[in-house]
Amino acid sequence: MKFFIDTANLDEVREANDLGVLDGVTTNPSLVKKEGNIDFHERVQEICNIVDGDVSAEVTATDFDGIMMEAHELAQLHDNVVVKVPLIREGIKAIRALSDEGIPTNCTLCFSPMQALLAAKAGATYISPFIGRIDDISSNGMQLIEEIVQIYANYGFETEVLAASIRHPMHVKEAALAGADVATIPFGTIQKLLEHPLTDRGLQRFLDDWNAYQDEIAEAA
Ligand code: E4P
Repeated sequence: MKFFIDTANLDEVREANDLGVLDGVTTNPSLVKKEGNIDFHERVQEICNIVDGDVSAEVTATDFDGIMMEAHELAQLHDNVVVKVPLIREGIKAIRALSDEGIPTNCTLCFSPMQALLAAKAGATYISPFIGRIDDISSNGMQLIEEIVQIYANYGFETEVLAASIRHPMHVKEAALAGADVATIPFGTIQKLLEHPLTDRGLQRFLDDWNAYQDEIAEAA
């Protein structure tokens, strides 16, 4: 499973990248807004210069021509840019055209298996089902991942299932069990993947025992 970080924050990108397990980055307009007064294109390039992997940058146009124009601008920023396109009628058309041009795409805002099927048929590189936002309305986000994974396997689609809108480590675990190709994870949740109280307690005991052992050896000498 590939790990992407879901952020437009450079410190978070750097810190996650330093772990050595990062495969890419996803951004969206809301994440960019959180960064304040930045140049979006510059930020995408900065992220691409840190991470050796796919970096999703989202278009904001909703008509075919506008999406294509923004997509071409974004794709020119860096070889690793993946153009993120919303799962709407004009978006699906644009994904088909971009795929024919060899420009990688991430089809975003997916909330149903049939939307995912359309995206795959259009040639999307990634499909982004939003798990957390489905859970937020008392439905089952993980079931959507399972169904898309099954449908893509049935027909041999190469579109990768990118579990998005992840809120906590259980989402990552369940997406991995369901066979998602990628999880895009907020920085805080990446940190939580590392943590276990028994690891901390166990390490403390090993270190305490080691220090006591060294003292015993020193006393015996
Ligand atoms: C990533 O590609 C998505 O835009 C993101 O995961 C959405 O997450 P949210 O539902 O927490 O905003």
